[in-house]
Amino acid sequence: MKNPSILFIGAGRMAEAIIAGLHKTSRDQIEKVYVSNRSNPKRLQILAAKFGVITVQHWSEAIQDVDVIVLAMPPEQHETILEQLKNYVDNQFIVTIAAGIGPSFLEARLPSNSAVGWIMPNTAAEVGHSISLYTYGKAVTERHKTQMSLLVNSVGKAQLCTEQDIHNLTAVTGSAPAFLYLFVESLIDMTEKLGVTKETSQKLVTEMVIGSAEMLKAGKSPEDLREQVTTPGGATAEGLKILSNGGFQHLIQEAIVATNKKAKGNN
Ligand SMILES: NC(=O)c1ccc[n+]([C@@H]2O[C@H](COP(=O)([O-])OP(=O)(O)OC[C@H]3O[C@@H](n4cnc5c(N)ncnc54)[C@H](OP(=O)(O)O)[C@@H]3O)[C@@H](O)[C@H]2O)c1
Repeated sequence: MKNPSILFIGAGRMAEAIIAGLHKTSRDQIEKVYVSNRSNPKRLQILAAKFGVITVQHWSEAIQDVDVIVLAMPPEQHETILEQLKNYVDNQFIVTIAAGIGPSFLEARLPSNSAVGWIMPNTAAEVGHSISLYTYGKAVTERHKTQMSLLVNSVGKAQLCTEQDIHNLTAVTGSAPAFLYLFVESLIDMTEKLGVTKETSQKLVTEMVIGSAEMLKAGKSPEDLREQVTTPGGATAEGLKILSNGGFQHLIQEAIVATNKKAKGNN
């Protein structure tokens, strides 16, 4: 099987994370990488210098030379780009990484039997630790699945899902990092209020999060881990009581529901 050439439409943070990942993990399995954006030539020059990608002013210049097209622009730009793209596509595998845009959205706007896919990475793609959800449309073959593996494995771990699962789970894998960062920010603020410098506070809280994540990664259940730290009637139990009484678990559930509702409303 010939190595694929890939075109990225959009040259932002997530495009860079995937391009960087491909450059690191799969350079020998890719023929060429093309990148285009809307209006920022400097950004394209940076990506060319860092990863040796070929930059094009408009994506249509590269389209006949590629096997895979990654739609890496914002969700609200998809309608316009797909309207133009449908006149150019000729058997390319079209993959979006946009929040809320599933294969059925792409299939409804592209020529019939177009092979399409959807990847929902998260921000940790930048450091190769995304947990990416992915799914396919109806017309994919083994070749497309191999191409999908290259993309998703370049930025971390990946889970094949249904389209509906991705709509439901994006709040957890995609948005919840922001919830976690808010939790971390709150701890850092409080540590500073206790008289510790910002730098030290950030270091302490970051190491606490990394250690806790490693315990989870070791396969222990969060419930067991929480109980290990919590002597009944002790100091940690007192803190947890405040979180529980304040509706912590309920707030998290509400945040997930609101995130999903908004993501659906965007399309
Ligand atoms: N960042 C994340 O953590 C994350 C996670 C999951 C999914 N995503 C998805 O990834 C996609 C990109 O996100 P991002 O964070 O990389 O955004 P970003 O940094 O804002 O970059 C967006 C890119 O899209 C380009 N663009 C916008 N409209 C375009 C058009 N009409 N034609 C060609 N290029 C166009 C922009 O070009 P100009 O700068 O020239 O306008 C820019 O290069 C989004 O759909 C987002 O939902 C992001």
